[in-house]
Amino acid sequence: MTEKIVLAYSGGLDTSVLIKWLQEKYAAEVITVTVNVGQQENLKEIAEKANKLGVLKHYSIDATKEFAKNYVFPAIKANALYEGKYPISTSLSRPLIVYKMVEVAKKHNATGLAHGCTGKGNDQVRFDISFASLAPNLKIIAPIREWNMTREEEIAYALKKGISVSKAAKKYSIDQSIWGRSIECGILEDANQEPPEDAFEWTISPEKAKNVPEYVTIKFESGVPTSLNNEVMEPLQLITTLNTIAGQHGVGRIDHIEDRLIGIKSREIYECPAATVLLEAHKDLEKMVLTRHEIMFKQSVDTQWTFLVYAGLWNDPLREDLEAFINKSQEKVEGEVRMKLYKGSFQVVGRSSKLSLYDKNLVNYNIKTGFKQSYSKGFIELWGLQTKMANILRQKINKNLEAKTDLE
Ligand code: ARG
Repeated sequence: MTEKIVLAYSGGLDTSVLIKWLQEKYAAEVITVTVNVGQQENLKEIAEKANKLGVLKHYSIDATKEFAKNYVFPAIKANALYEGKYPISTSLSRPLIVYKMVEVAKKHNATGLAHGCTGKGNDQVRFDISFASLAPNLKIIAPIREWNMTREEEIAYALKKGISVSKAAKKYSIDQSIWGRSIECGILEDANQEPPEDAFEWTISPEKAKNVPEYVTIKFESGVPTSLNNEVMEPLQLITTLNTIAGQHGVGRIDHIEDRLIGIKSREIYECPAATVLLEAHKDLEKMVLTRHEIMFKQSVDTQWTFLVYAGLWNDPLREDLEAFINKSQEKVEGEVRMKLYKGSFQVVGRSSKLSLYDKNLVNYNIKTGFKQSYSKGFIELWGLQTKMANILRQKINKNLEAKTDLE
């Protein structure tokens, strides 16, 4: 039986070479799928390239709306920042890409699923586990992990097969979705070197940003943003609009050392303007409407959710278990947050909510609020009881030791 393989196709050199490789080495028919999650590529050109390389069929699937609503919005509810820094903009898109590939595979009775990830990154983990979870009967094919071709050998192979190779060697390896842009390779691999300006496309350098601050007001309902500056917006529109606004103020540049799943530490550069602003605003609003106990517990749930998604386990049942808690907590997360954007900085400067637990009368110095200050004395007594006892005991032991050494 002829193998029929569905390949995640970006239009780049690696996956173009893969088409030919699969046709030759696997004697397979290849179906390519490009899922648009906001990578701002020319989808028509990508389709033409695939067709020129003799694929059985090429699919170009616009999943931007679905991505915003069903993947990015849950990440906002979970305050998802991997290792406190990275809004998991690449990680989030992988399970959706696979979902779309599997739909195509079922339609064509495919025998295998293929991706072009290397053996050093996180994406291979995400693709493989999502493939295996959604289509356990299909073969997983990841040739780049095995073929051991150098860049030069790959280019030579491409030229031999009539694949166009762009003359200008690409300076960086880029991955984009509406939630952010990740920039890797080249000079960025020197962890001690400030990223050059040409690495950035979505954010202006903070030094060059306008000298006047801009305020944005974000309204949240059930934990997700529903309007921007009093204009009701669909998830996709809200995110892309905010990417532009915050980017113009140089907001959203991220530079950090990241722990990849496979153990390698990597220096990562991202620009995620909308994510940076929305996650900060959301977290701030939670502080106003959730109790301290909810917030403390939710932090650990959020961390676990974010790790699962980063680590390729979107399809593990634990994600939905955690979301049951997260979604319940988000029923109360509504209100407005005002943020100030200025030359790379982003700050919450105001928030309000019908469900606020913040009470100005309780916190101020007015003594006629009903808060019984005299009760605090007793509370502190009990709150610090064990701490006090532990210290009394320590002092007693120290004194006994001193008395013993004096005798010797
Ligand atoms: N380190 C990030 C992640 O694992 C970004 C990876 C970018 N991926 C890529 N294929 N260039 O999610």
